[in-house]
Amino acid sequence: METRHISPARRIRGTAGLPGDKSIAHRAALIGAISDGTTTAEGFPSGADCRSTLRCLRQLGVRIEQEDDRVRIEGRGLGGLLRPEGALDAGNSGTTVRLLAGILAGHSFSSTIVGDASLSRRPMERVVEPLSLFGACVEANGGKLPLRIDGGHLRAIDYRTGVASAQVKSAVLLAGAHAVGTTTLEEPAPTRDHTEIALRGAGAALRGSGRRIEIDGGVRLRSRTFRIPGDVSSAAFLMAAALGLPDSELELPGLGSNPTRTGFPGLLQSLGARIAWERHGEHGGEPVADALVRSSLLGPIEVGPAQVPSLIDELPMLAVLGAASGAGVEIRGARELRHKESDRIHALAANLASTGVEVEEFEDGLRVGPSKMRGGTVSSFGDHRIAMAFAIGGLMSGEGVTIQDPGCVDISFPGFFELLDGLVER
Ligand code: S3P
Repeated sequence: METRHISPARRIRGTAGLPGDKSIAHRAALIGAISDGTTTAEGFPSGADCRSTLRCLRQLGVRIEQEDDRVRIEGRGLGGLLRPEGALDAGNSGTTVRLLAGILAGHSFSSTIVGDASLSRRPMERVVEPLSLFGACVEANGGKLPLRIDGGHLRAIDYRTGVASAQVKSAVLLAGAHAVGTTTLEEPAPTRDHTEIALRGAGAALRGSGRRIEIDGGVRLRSRTFRIPGDVSSAAFLMAAALGLPDSELELPGLGSNPTRTGFPGLLQSLGARIAWERHGEHGGEPVADALVRSSLLGPIEVGPAQVPSLIDELPMLAVLGAASGAGVEIRGARELRHKESDRIHALAANLASTGVEVEEFEDGLRVGPSKMRGGTVSSFGDHRIAMAFAIGGLMSGEGVTIQDPGCVDISFPGFFELLDGLVER
C-alpha cells in the first residue's frame, strides 16, 4: 500500500494560491449546462470531483472545452440535456450525484447515476423523497446508489428538508427551476448558498435567503462568466498549519469568503487566532478576500450544532488541530459527519488514538485531547479531508505521521503535498 510520511516542521511561511472552490465550480458547470448560451468558468479546479461533474455533463450531450483552468460550457437550455448512453458515473462526488439528480428529475428520459465504493455507501433517500414529490420517478437501491431517474413534467412542491444539507437544498431548487409553479423550501439551519447565488446570477426568479427560499419554475437561465474564488475549505488545512506551528506566517490570496463557508476561521478568530481578511471584493455575487494567518495560541475549541453547517467540511481539521496544538476540542451535533466520504467521526477517533491522543467518540461528535499528538501511522480511509488533516497534524506532532493511501487528496487538492513541502521549514 502507498504511504506518505510527514515529518515534524519548525514553521510554515510564504504565499499560497488555492485551487478554485469545488462547491462553486460544480454549480458553475451544472447551471451553465442548463442555461442558454456559453458559460465560462475561470479558475476551475482540476480535482477529481469537479472532473466527475464535467464527465457526466458531456455524457448528457453538453459540449465542454477546457484550456488550463478555463472551462467553456455550451449550455443546452432548461430541459435540454440529452438521454445518456450508459450510466453516469459521479465517482466520489456527493455534490455531483445529488445536484445532478435534481436537474435530471426535470428531464423526460431515464438515466442512472452510479459512483465509487465510498459514494455507494452514502444516503440518497434525502434526494429521492423530494424529487419523487415533484412527480419524478426516482429509485435508489435501499436508499443508496445506483439512482435511477425517470423525470419530466414536474409540479412545484413546498418542502422542509430533514437535514441541513446544501446538496439536498440545491437538488430541490434545481428541480424547482424545471417545475410548473413556485417551489418553496425551508431548511433546519442555513447552509452554503452558492446555488442561490449562481441561479440568481443566471436570471432565475428566486426569492428569500437563509432558511426559506422560493423559486419559480420555467424561467430560462442565462449564461455568464464565473471567476471561481480559491477554496476556503482547502485553505483551512494551510491555515491550521500556520496557526499551530510557531513563528509562522502565511498569505492566502483570493479566497472565497462567503459567510456560509467561513465558520472555521471565524470560530478560531473568536478564540484568539490571528487571521486577518484583507482586500475584500466580489466575483459574481460571491465574496472574496485575501487571508493573512499568523501562529497563535489557541484555547480549548468547542463546536455545537448551530456552528456545524458553516464548517462541516473543516471538522476533521479542527479535531486534528485541537489535538496537535494541545488545545483540545469538543464537537457535538455533527452526526452528518458519519455520512461523508468516510464515517469521519470513526476515522478521526481511530486515527487520533493511533497517534497517541486521548479521544472519546460520541454518536454525534467527539472529545479530543488535551494530550498532544505524538505521531504514528494512520489511514486516510480513502477520504481526502482525513488525509490532509493528518498531514497537517504530522507537521505539528512529536515524531511525524505516516499516512496510508494518501492519493485520495486528488479528489479536492491535487498537488497538496508538493505545495506543503514548498512552504514548510524543517
Ligand atoms: C456541499 C455540501 C456539503 C459538504 C460537501 C459539499 C455542496 O454536503 O459537506 O462537501 O457543495 O453543496 P451536505 O449537503 O451533504 O451537507
